[in-house]
Amino acid sequence: MNEMKRSKIVIGNWKMYKTIEESVAFVEELSPLISDQDPMVYLAVPFTSIKPASEAAKDTQIVIGAQNMNDASEGAFTGEVAGQMLVNAGAKFVILGHSERRIFFKETNEFINKKVKRALEEGLRVVLCIGENLTEREEGKTHSVLETQIKECLADVNQLENVILAYEPIWAIGSHQTATPEIAQEAHFFCREFIAQNWNQEQANQLMIQYGGSVKPENAKALLEQPDIDGLLVGGASLSVEVFSKIIHYQSDLNLGNHL
Ligand code: PGA
Repeated sequence: MNEMKRSKIVIGNWKMYKTIEESVAFVEELSPLISDQDPMVYLAVPFTSIKPASEAAKDTQIVIGAQNMNDASEGAFTGEVAGQMLVNAGAKFVILGHSERRIFFKETNEFINKKVKRALEEGLRVVLCIGENLTEREEGKTHSVLETQIKECLADVNQLENVILAYEPIWAIGSHQTATPEIAQEAHFFCREFIAQNWNQEQANQLMIQYGGSVKPENAKALLEQPDIDGLLVGGASLSVEVFSKIIHYQSDLNLGNHL
């Protein structure tokens, strides 16, 4: 099941933080710290920073993307941003279905599915977030929640090579309560099995599944050592170059223990 060697990825999700100047300065400071040996590094920046951050990231290993988009290609939807506009601004990927969008903006699996299809059509890589809340976990509903989210958000999506799944238990986001590597591994393995059963084994083997929720330099290594954890989606700890680069350099023990 896990013989397949998948590459690792670390994605920073800045949420509603950083001006254009701060974004560009971050990219300029981070890029010289990344080498070929490191995981792929993606940054999901605010809409306003996509173009300047993409320009600053040109010829570096940093890939710039967005945190949301609308499902329509264009239209009278005041305040919304279309996938083709993201591409035009330089975005290579988009985070969809983040729990903050599901909770605060009432996004449903059905709506997220429309966005996923549109994003793939526009040539964007999709980082699809799924995850249970505390009550669901305590009531033993984690697997059924994940199953429903995957099934509904990826309905009619056959090509999974441009999809990254991000398992983000809601109880772990911004809470300093990281899932243990074992809890995360169990959920990742479950998702991969579900993909194998409902798509096929090869797609399941190739699918990158990343973990998100209170990732810090101190827990990055143990999480990334799990066989089904292929990457990390990092919120708060992605806002500082110093802290984020320690997560990227998770293999170097020298980086740990002198911060936070
Ligand atoms: P956190 O956020 O790392 O601050 O918990 C993760 C996320 O929301 O993607």
